[in-house]
Amino acid sequence: MAFSRITGLGFYVPDNVITNDDLTQWMETSDEWIRERTGIQERRYFEYGKDTNYSMAAAASRQALDRAGLTPNDIDVIVYATITPDYFFPGSAFLMQRELGMDGKPVIDIREQCSGFVYALSIADQFIKSGMYKTALVVGSEIQSSWIDKSTAGRNTAVIFGDGAGAAVVSATNDPQHCILSTHLHADGRFAEELYVKDPGSSREGRPVSQEVIDGGGHNVYMNGNAVFKHAIVRFGEVIQEALEANGYTAGDIDLLVPHQANLRISDYVRQQLGLAESQVINNLQRFGNTTAASIPIALTEAWETGKIQEGDLICLAAFGSGFTWASALIRW
Ligand code: COA
Repeated sequence: MAFSRITGLGFYVPDNVITNDDLTQWMETSDEWIRERTGIQERRYFEYGKDTNYSMAAAASRQALDRAGLTPNDIDVIVYATITPDYFFPGSAFLMQRELGMDGKPVIDIREQCSGFVYALSIADQFIKSGMYKTALVVGSEIQSSWIDKSTAGRNTAVIFGDGAGAAVVSATNDPQHCILSTHLHADGRFAEELYVKDPGSSREGRPVSQEVIDGGGHNVYMNGNAVFKHAIVRFGEVIQEALEANGYTAGDIDLLVPHQANLRISDYVRQQLGLAESQVINNLQRFGNTTAASIPIALTEAWETGKIQEGDLICLAAFGSGFTWASALIRW
């Protein structure tokens, strides 16, 4: 029986730092409001002409590959999560594959929003466990800054999001002591419209992109922040417990929790619910905001780089997002 383990991690964020004060040039908001409600202090915005969704993903992937001691041609499959692709189709995985010179290797583009990376990791884990592939590149990459409405009308979502990419190389192993122990995926489409971008959608009268559609504002992110908050604090706890129970552990066994970086208040709530110390939960949204599918691999890479992950540690990844989706992965490092 094969298992899979993460053998290399990398991330890329654009150089362009946008502080909360910088946002006040576009919208009525304040550093105080954003910090109090979300914990976010700054985020990165991509530089047009320099960064693309796929170039950021490629940069993160190169770092992850280097650290795994591999080259792009050692990879059997790419699983790429994003809700902000470079093109409507084909997906950004194709563009990153071309960028890395991996022509002919299969690519899978998925969405699954803020849970995208954990879903992608789970797909890679199943491919490896089944024996179909030996090495996978799992990526989350987002350019939110070109999508969000930076006027006051869009401020409840615009202040949250940032740009960036993270990647993990996932390799086959025979060692059940150092591997991804399990992944747990959930979705509830009854809440699809609580956090969504409606346009450009295909199921409409007339062309998906027209002046009428643009004037309707459906291309902007709509979020019922309160509903998202309420579901997130329940689902995070549930899906973490599910992962622990599936492997015969309790919260006290967790060495490090790497949650999707949505909101510091959500993260603190979950931490207290589990009885974890502040040092056991990775929070970097203060510096990067919510980078959707990229948030967990960026946070995981930073945790690894700063020595917060040691061999043998029990690491839990947990996500919640639009869909609604929620997911977890339990890893014995
Ligand atoms: N700056 C200043 N004021 C703002 C603002 C901003 N960026 N965004 C909203 N406001 C205002 C609103 O207009 C509203 O004003 P009003 O009372 O005069 O109508 C007031 O602040 C409160 O708005 P509300 O939306 O009720 O705020 P909230 O306390 O629910 O906080 C969120 C909003 C988004 C921070 C909060 O709902 C949240 O964190 N939700 C979860 C979001 C999330 O994590 N999403 C990603 C999931 S993956």
